[in-house]
Amino acid sequence: MIVVLNFGGQFTHLITRRIRELGSYAEILPFNATYSEIKVLNPKGIILSGGPASVNEEDSPCCSKKIFHLSIPILGICYGHQLLIKMSGGKIKKGKISEYGKETITLLHRKGLFKGLSEKEQVWLSHRDKVERLPKNFSVIARTPQCSVAAFSSEIEKFYGVQFHPEVVHTLRGKKILSNFIFDICMEKKNWTVKNYKKRLQKEIRERVDNKAVIMALSGGVDSLVSATLLHEVIGDNLYCVLVDTGLMRKNEVIDVKKTIRKMRFKNFYIVNAREEFISRLSGITNPEEKRKIIGRIFIETFEKKAKELQSKSRIEFLAQGTIYPDRIESAQPSKTASKIKSHHNIILPDNMKFKIIEPLHELYKDEVRKLGKELKLPEELIRRHPFPGPGLAIRILGEVTKKRLDILREVDYIYISELKKTEQYDNIWQAFAALLPFRAVGVMGDKRTYEYIVSLRAVTSKDGMTADWARIPYRILEKISNKIVNQVNGVNRVLFDISQKPPATIEYE
Ligand code: XMP
Repeated sequence: MIVVLNFGGQFTHLITRRIRELGSYAEILPFNATYSEIKVLNPKGIILSGGPASVNEEDSPCCSKKIFHLSIPILGICYGHQLLIKMSGGKIKKGKISEYGKETITLLHRKGLFKGLSEKEQVWLSHRDKVERLPKNFSVIARTPQCSVAAFSSEIEKFYGVQFHPEVVHTLRGKKILSNFIFDICMEKKNWTVKNYKKRLQKEIRERVDNKAVIMALSGGVDSLVSATLLHEVIGDNLYCVLVDTGLMRKNEVIDVKKTIRKMRFKNFYIVNAREEFISRLSGITNPEEKRKIIGRIFIETFEKKAKELQSKSRIEFLAQGTIYPDRIESAQPSKTASKIKSHHNIILPDNMKFKIIEPLHELYKDEVRKLGKELKLPEELIRRHPFPGPGLAIRILGEVTKKRLDILREVDYIYISELKKTEQYDNIWQAFAALLPFRAVGVMGDKRTYEYIVSLRAVTSKDGMTADWARIPYRILEKISNKIVNQVNGVNRVLFDISQKPPATIEYE
């Protein structure tokens, strides 16, 4: 594997993504990971990421110099490039002009890191500081008009640095540079396939869980379903799955999950109907945070009750969760605790219910989870599904949640999503859904005045849900969807299409 030390750059995630796309495994660690934390992973190479700081600032982030003793190749990118120079005895000074955006770089040789590239290449840079003096043994291997050391190499130590970002698509041959580093310089093997990963994961599960029982809450979402299937293949009837039917789920969701689980012959699968509890405790609540808290609380109470009941019959030692990689690495900021998890992804149980936590997908990105789902032969329909938030439709009904509003929204969402799935749009969109606005508008239908709800259709493109843009769905598709909704759903006479980006909006409405 390749270790990527995170200095807080916005593209750190992209570095690991690119390496995995190339067929090798990479993992992000905080910049201050200790020598032993890194050594134990037995990496074939280390990448120092970019970051917002300047190496000359007091308290600027620095990694342990002991990593040099590992005698493995190191590649510094942007901040990492300057840090590697400074740590090796070179000097960095403040530049007068910053270089930002696309730039043409001149390569002084085309071997090693730059094997297979042309003399001139387009790269993407963002920096102000400059190299004043290179350490001895370091040579310049590329420059731009503004930057005399756009890249360096030190063949003795196998240290390399690039001032630009090879991980972004605007650096046109960036993937080739990373590939040269990983396969030619680090001598890493192409071994990152979902098939291999599945085998490795299942071995780990077997060793850790042994013959103990595991409980897990299924939500109907891809992550929990893939985790459960993976576990089931290894531990079979020792897996206990609980689906809390909150009444806040999409049309047919509970039935679809039930069908899939039955088909896969899960013996211990329980649906707990808590619909009444949710709707009655949400009555009169309009504040978004209050709604979320109430939903979280009822969910835990319901799950806990079922878990206790099951525990009285069989010894359940583990709680499995569908946490995935981006959930652990909160944004790109370096954090002292590398695995901070979004609280809404966790079931935090009371202290008296102690479970050991197992998170089989904690190393995977969403698209990798989907690939694994395919490998596990889960139905395509379920794997393709867009993410769905824990609090469900409740945060897509602005204001009070009532049964009538839920029923209307479920129908609207169903029509919207079914129509999108008939086009190529669905798979290109990160997330699409409808939201119900708690206002009524006047309309006219069959010569009669109507006074009904307004719904808003949201569709966004995104890499990981952190930022998002609205999807440019063609008007003819939107027109068809709008007509269908107004004609088929009682209680709605107006359809809006949301064209806000995140930021400043968020993907969900509450
Ligand atoms: P926002 O609305 O914050 O959403 O832009 C970003 C992504 O997170 C999902 N989301 C949630 N997922 N529990 C979840 O499991 C939640 O409480 C929750 N809130 C938002 C949202 O659907 C989007 O994909």
